[in-house]
Amino acid sequence: MSAEIVNVREYEAHAKQKLAKMSFDYFSTGADDQWSLQENIRAFGRIRIRPRILVDVNDVDLSTQVLGYRVSMPIMVAPTGHQKLAHPEGELATARATSAADTIMVLSSSANSTLEDVANTGPGTRFFQLYIFKDREYVAEVVRRAERAGYKAIVLTGDVPRLGNRENDKKNRFTLPAHLTIANFAGIGGRTNLLTSKSNESSLTTFNNSQMDSSVSWKDIGWLKGITSLPILIKGVLTGEDAVLAVRSGVDGIMVSNHGARQLDFTPATISVLEEVVQAVRGRVPVFLDGGVRRGTDVFKALALGAAGVFVGRPVVYGLAVDGEAGVRKVLRTLRDEFEVAMMLSGCIRVQDISRSHVLTENEPLCCS
Ligand code: FNR
Repeated sequence: MSAEIVNVREYEAHAKQKLAKMSFDYFSTGADDQWSLQENIRAFGRIRIRPRILVDVNDVDLSTQVLGYRVSMPIMVAPTGHQKLAHPEGELATARATSAADTIMVLSSSANSTLEDVANTGPGTRFFQLYIFKDREYVAEVVRRAERAGYKAIVLTGDVPRLGNRENDKKNRFTLPAHLTIANFAGIGGRTNLLTSKSNESSLTTFNNSQMDSSVSWKDIGWLKGITSLPILIKGVLTGEDAVLAVRSGVDGIMVSNHGARQLDFTPATISVLEEVVQAVRGRVPVFLDGGVRRGTDVFKALALGAAGVFVGRPVVYGLAVDGEAGVRKVLRTLRDEFEVAMMLSGCIRVQDISRSHVLTENEPLCCS
């Protein structure tokens, strides 16, 4: 199946054919009018590359460091929930493929596999994405489990005080099949598996409205630091103001993200606000980006605008749906190959060579006469 697919976008159509409508809609759609969903991708298309020629790029090297860990490329796997809806091996297949690519996987709080099972797939650098639910003791215990199982950082998602308005999940009355759970929080809320019970709305909404702690604020970074010694990344920053607050709160890194346009619609594309965040941060912590990365040139553009690396969400899930572990491997390989071509054709040997002067944003004139 994968042989005829030549870029990561093509996985989406194949995944649509394979998956039940409820699952495909859950993976692919966004909030409200899905303006930001399209904008995440369109905005990359408005950035142009200024290549340099006649540079010796024979020994091109895509590797870099993330929080001190070496990765083979600045392309990592974003946390996405319910991967067993895409493939029976779900997060376990993604973990194996990500390790094979020698990069980092972020395991979602909404995974259908336990964090221990994912860790037991083999060696690999993995981060754990955290939602802070009302039951703080439960959350603290999950963080301690992640630390014990060898996860290297906590990625705190800050943009879900409640769930975004996802109309397709509503229409489909999204539920999990009986054999799947939110594995790491299966007992939260008195063991009522709210995601399998049929109701008139998406069960994701029911679960979130009853369990999510909407009072979470910047001071809870302090709470998190009190229960773990792991570095903390904050995911969901879209403004310079919040970037400053994030640095002040003591996080170790920032992820510019609009949650794949599944939360607040009409947020700008992440690539459009990356530079604002980078300038506010002034190099004090690394800044990462996710949202709409579909090409190696997108990775290149994000790095030119100051990202230390990018994360991909949907392409990984579509690869998983189409061909399990092999599909995820191919998605990561394809992005890697494209990024390598983009680097070489722009005259960059190392990731650090990619500079602001390699791109023009929509606000900049084409020539400077
Ligand atoms: C997500 N995302 C997400 N984020 C998070 O912090 N915790 C989660 O459990 C999930 N779950 C999730 C499920 C699905 C199906 C998608 C598509 C996304 C958001 C994710 O981490 C990331 O921000 C986006 O997916 C990035 O955008 P792209 O690459 O999908 O365009």
